[in-house]
Formats: sequence, C-alpha cells, structure tokens
Amino acid sequence: MSAPSPDTRKFPPTPEFVAQANLSGVEAYKAAHKRSLDDPEGFWGDIASELTWMKPWDKVLDDSKAPVYEWFVGGKTNVTVNCLDRHVANGLADQPAILWEGEPADETRVLTYGQLLAEVERFANVLKALGVGKGDGVSIYLPMIPELAISVLACARIGAVHSVIFAGFSAESIKDRVMDQKSKLVITADGGWRRGKALMLKDIVDEGVADCSSIEKVLVVQRHLDKEPFPHTWNDRDVWYHEIAPTVPAECAPEEMDAEDMLFLLYTSGSTGKPKGVMHTTGGYMVYTYLTSKLTFDLKPGDVYWCTADVGWITGHSYIVYGILQNGVAQVMYEGAPNSPDESRFWQIVEKYKVSIFYTAPTAIRAFMKWGDQHVVKHDLSSLRLLGTVGEPINPEAWMWYHRLIGAEKCPIVDTWWQTETGGHMLTPLPGVTATKPGSATTPFLGIDAAVLDEDGNETDRGILAIRKPWPAMLRGVWGDEQRFKDTYWCKWGGKYYFPGDGAIKDEDGYFWITGRVDDVVNVSGHRIGTAELESVFVEHPAVAESAVIGVPHEIKGQGLVAFVIIRTGVEGEEAVWRKELTAMVDSKIGKFARPEKIVFSADLPKTRSGKIMRRLLRDIAEDRPLGNVTTLADPSVVDNLKEKFKA
Ligand code: WTA
Repeated sequence: MSAPSPDTRKFPPTPEFVAQANLSGVEAYKAAHKRSLDDPEGFWGDIASELTWMKPWDKVLDDSKAPVYEWFVGGKTNVTVNCLDRHVANGLADQPAILWEGEPADETRVLTYGQLLAEVERFANVLKALGVGKGDGVSIYLPMIPELAISVLACARIGAVHSVIFAGFSAESIKDRVMDQKSKLVITADGGWRRGKALMLKDIVDEGVADCSSIEKVLVVQRHLDKEPFPHTWNDRDVWYHEIAPTVPAECAPEEMDAEDMLFLLYTSGSTGKPKGVMHTTGGYMVYTYLTSKLTFDLKPGDVYWCTADVGWITGHSYIVYGILQNGVAQVMYEGAPNSPDESRFWQIVEKYKVSIFYTAPTAIRAFMKWGDQHVVKHDLSSLRLLGTVGEPINPEAWMWYHRLIGAEKCPIVDTWWQTETGGHMLTPLPGVTATKPGSATTPFLGIDAAVLDEDGNETDRGILAIRKPWPAMLRGVWGDEQRFKDTYWCKWGGKYYFPGDGAIKDEDGYFWITGRVDDVVNVSGHRIGTAELESVFVEHPAVAESAVIGVPHEIKGQGLVAFVIIRTGVEGEEAVWRKELTAMVDSKIGKFARPEKIVFSADLPKTRSGKIMRRLLRDIAEDRPLGNVTTLADPSVVDNLKEKFKA
C-alpha cells in the first residue's frame, strides 16, 4: 500500500508542449527508464556517444571498487570541448552563450560561443603561465560575472581541479577549503556588487589565504576595466588578470582527460564536522549533466535559459556551466539580487531577454509572493515555456502561484530533487511526460533507481530515500577522507544503496515527495548548513559551555535556524552582548547567510539519561507543539524552563 498524495491535483503537460518535447509521453519515458535500469551500459554508452571523446571508453561501468563506481573507463575527453569547441565547429560560433546582466542595470555583456571559447583559452593559458597544471587545485572566489564561468572552464581546459567558493562565505571558510585542498592559486576579483553595496572580495581572500602556504599566486580580475578598481590592498603574490592576459598565447589545446580524472571539488555541509570536499570526475559528470539538461529543461536551439543560482553552488556548476553549455543554448547570467533595485528585477530580466526556461529556488518564489503580484504583472512574461525549482521542497501554495502568475497556467514546472553529491537531477518531472503534482519531485530520472525504504532496507510508503543503483554523475568520494565517504553515504543499508539523507513519501501513483533532511543538516533558503558546524562556532566563545542548533519552519526561507546556548556556570554577562558576539562569529567563521533567526540562552538542554541532546524536543518547543515522548528525559523540568525562555 502506498501513501495517499499530500496534494492530489494533477497538471498534465499541454498537448502543444508534448508535441515538441525532447521526450514525449509516459510510455516513452517508461520504456527508456526500463532500458536504462536493465541495460545501463547500453543506455549510457548511447548517450555518451552523442558527445565528443578523444578516445572511446573500454567499459561503461566498472563496479569492482564499489562504492567508488567508475564510468566510461579508459575514455579520454575534455568537457570544455563539449561545452565550446563542438558548438563552434558546428556553426554556433556567433550564437550567444552568455547574456550577462550586471547588478548595475546599465552593465551588460554578451559572449558568443566563439568568444567564450577564446576567453576560456586565454584564461587557461594565464593559469599555465602562473604554474598551474593538470591535477593542481585552484580555488575560485568571484562574483557572478562571466569570469566565474570562464575560470571554471579554464581549469577544466587544462585539467586543474577547481573548487568554487560561493562569494558569500567568510575568510575563514576560504581558509578551510584552500587548506583542505592545498590549492596552488586562488582567483578573485577586486570587488563585486550586492544590492548596491560593494563586496570587497579581494580583502576577504587576503585574510583567508594569509596563512595558506600552498597558495603561490592570487589572480585578480578587475570587476570593471573602464572604471577605477575597487579599493584593495596589493601583495607580492598578486597578479592582475588584465595585465597578464595579453602576454600569453591565444590558443590553448584541451588537455586530454581520463574519464575518471577529477574535474572539481565542491565543499558542502554534512551532519558532522567541517564541510567536506565532494569529488566529481570528468566523464560521468559530463554525460549526466548533458542529458539531464537536455531532457529536464527540454533544451532546443533558440531557447533562452536562465538559472538564478550562483555558480558557487552545485546548481550553478551543473545547470549554468557544464550541462547547459553542452547543449549549446543561450543563457542569462545575472550578478545581483532579485530585489535590486526593486522587486521586479527578475521579471524585467525575463522580459528583456525573452527568457524561455526559468529555473529558481522555492525561497525566491515565496519572497515574490510576499512582495506582491504588482511587481510581476507589469512585465511581459509570454516568452516563458518551462519553469523549474531546486534546492528545497516547494510548498503547494508557492507552486500554484508560480504556475498561475509566472507560468500563465501553461508552462510545465519541473521540481528537481538532487544534491551536490549526485551531480545532477535525480527525481524530476520530465516536461513532455509527467503530470505534475504541486510539491512533488515526481519520478526518477533515466538511469535512477530510487526507492523509499525503512531502516532495514524494506520498501515502504513513508521513510528514507535511497538510490539503489550507481549513476554516472555520482560523487566519487570525499576529498582526503575515504572513511567519511563510506560512513556518510554507504552505511545505512550495509553499503548496498546510496543514502542521500532525505526523508520521502511514495504515493499511490509512485510519485516521490521529499519531506526534508533526516540528519542534522538544515536547508536555509536552499543552502545547506550543518547544525554541528554552527554549534562548533558557538562553543569557541569563551562564555559558552554547550549549544544545540535546530532547523524550524520559516515562511520565506523554508527553514530557519534556532540556536540554544548554555553559558558556563559562574560567567557573568548580558545576553544582548553575547547575542551580538555570537552573530559576529557566525559571520566571520561561516558567512552571514548562516545566521540563526533566534539565539536562546538557557541553563540546560533536554538530554537523555545517557547525555544525548534531545533535538526532537527542542524542535517541539520551537514550533510550539505538544511535546513528544519525554520518558527518556533525564530532567523533565528543563523543558518547562526552555519553553519560557523561548517565548520571552
Ligand atoms: C534539498 C542542491 C526537496 C534536499 C541541488 C537535498 C530538495 C539538499 C530539492 C541538497 C527538491 C534539493 N525538493 N528538497 N526539489 N532539491 N533539496 O547539495 O534536502 O545544496 O538533500 O544541492 O537540498 O542540497 P545541495
């Protein structure tokens, strides 16, 4: 028996959409999905053959080293050839690749596929001139300017392993990542814009890499060459990109990469410890992001695609840079915020560029709902034909608003569930196939064997999401920590299945509904934050003895953070001062986006008799629910005190 759907409304694609889609009709999907699971090697081999390889693979899938699965073994390629050279060779050199819109509305740039290739080649030669070669680590800390995509591709061109650090992270976060990867070079800019405020990225990098002995050079892009640079300090190891670029050759042949050579690391939060470097390799990631982009977004020549994520997150890696460019379409890249200079900015951009496919996060949709329909209806959104969401569960109200107001009740909505670790879409409607239900990520992508299981690995209708077969873009490991890779993702069901950390429901139609994380990871505005990471920040404060951080529902952000903090006995001080200091510590050790909504100081935390913090009870308190089972609680009075403190 399967669970009933939380929302039973169904929205099939229009016949017009189905008629033109890259994959049409439920029968076609079912047949393709069945083949992809019965004969993964045949299926993925066929897809990979649509791309350019320098040498074909000997074997599609090698599972002898499970849980490290290898794909396209023996194949040689370079992903930039499939993103750029292939299109230029096929007559797309003059077609736009990136339509860049700066935060200051008068700043725009258009890069054709031919120009983007030329920029990438030159940037790649600059990296070489600075001593970067195949296998070297490069950290990238840039605003959403074309050089962010260019530098990512330049690394891939020469086989350097990029690690993009979202430009909202603090100096300390840069340091952690650079040290973990032992990067040789960091690429940054003199500054960037966010809601009219200058971001001093270079200064943050200087602070971050001050003690990083692996860093040989800091390569600095000047944000606008026609104006004064942002104020910045200058060190011996710093190099201006615009000064070195004219001194290097224009052409850079793509490095021949083994399918299993590393492409990039991307750090992400887990339920314990510091963020981990998720490892992605070349061939499988390339093939999977190519196909998911093509089918989930139904990409065609003439489309103008726009993903509002930052390249600093996996969404930007897979669905701004690699997957989208491999499909040769034009895309908008936007530097700024949705509400700068005002709340209609996104819709003004959709109208201006005649965006046909729009991909954003539920948190943005909820913010627009709150800001009011007037910002939307004044713009012509008739160019849109497909909408997508990513990063967190979407509530049916937000889905319906998106469907009605943005999609004019005709655009399919693809609610894509996936992760940094999965590399690409895992559960998603296919727009020419799936009758969508508001709030459901619906069905598995081709090649994905998803199931809802209980702790023992039996199928159930409400439990934990599992992926039971390998797929090409799966992570290959956690950088420098094989044990953590095994413990985090492969322990749950005896190493057999991949454990993503999400709860799920499977309904009577076989649709999946993600219910949120089942571990101590909180999803704030679609950003993953490990509660343990925040807790370890708080306990660095001299007055703090212990802390527990939980996620609570938040109207706009999806989830917000609430921190419970215990002050050491005998320490005197004011809560307001501690609150300020703790917030400043979060800003400097992680980034402003990880600030808790609320910090509650208390004398004690609810614990079991064996001393384990009962987070479930903390959540009950924060959400003002009747308390669940309290029989294991060591000291029941703690809870009443906390309730009072929380309300105060
Ligand atoms: C959550 C972002 C519900 C989920 C691509 C997952 C979602 C985590 C969805 C990964 C969705 C992502 N519906 N939940 N459509 N998409 N999530 O690594 O909890 O930043 O485990 O990757 O976001 O976050 P990450």
